Amino acid sequence: MWNQRYADDAYIYGTDPNSFLAEHAHILIDPVLSLAEGEGRNAVFLASRGLNVYGVDGSEVGLAKAQKLAQSQGVEIQTEVADLGLFKPPAHHYGSVVSISAHLPSPIRNRLYPLVERCLKPNGIILLEAYSENQMTRDTGGPKDLDMLMTCAKVEHEFPHCEPILIRELEREVREGKYHTGMASVVQFIARKKA
Ligand SMILES: C[S@@+](CC[C@H](N)C(=O)[O-])C[C@H]1O[C@@H](n2cnc3c(N)ncnc32)[C@H](O)[C@@H]1O
Repeated sequence: MWNQRYADDAYIYGTDPNSFLAEHAHILIDPVLSLAEGEGRNAVFLASRGLNVYGVDGSEVGLAKAQKLAQSQGVEIQTEVADLGLFKPPAHHYGSVVSISAHLPSPIRNRLYPLVERCLKPNGIILLEAYSENQMTRDTGGPKDLDMLMTCAKVEHEFPHCEPILIRELEREVREGKYHTGMASVVQFIARKKA
């Protein structure tokens, strides 16, 4: 499904970074693991700020576009095609993990998120934005599957070893390509791994 979506030459989520990430990028610690990186807009932005970024995604078409975008902007990013249902990041390796619109079913999250916490160094940062369960009734983006949508309670529960710095659900205008197109309910989460 994702390879098909990305088959378009155009960048379907745009080439500008997610605005929540851009606003809070100063808090990120190097190196950065980006989950479900897609076509590279966020990784390229972070690399342009001098961060070393490792982007993982299940779509080889998306990540090929990510590398093309990086080249066009004169930055380097590392990418790996992998199913996040099987992906195992190295322990205590990353300063930060970024997850933007990386909607995953709960069985995958329940396996992956403990590994995400483990892959962070002490005091490492997780930054996540996802559509919330309240997005179910809107047609402005995100999966039509309650299980894959987030709430503040879910995110806090699923990262028990991280101390929230910011955790909120809000409505905001999301205009990030043709699938993210208007007023939306999102959960935003920034947390620090407990030392
Ligand atoms: C909505 S896009 C977001 C892409 C990117 N984070 C962004 O903000 O532009 C969701 C991404 O999740 C990836 N994805 C979904 N399920 C996945 C899985 N099980 N393993 C790896 N990637 C997955 C898709 O390939 C797609 O690139």
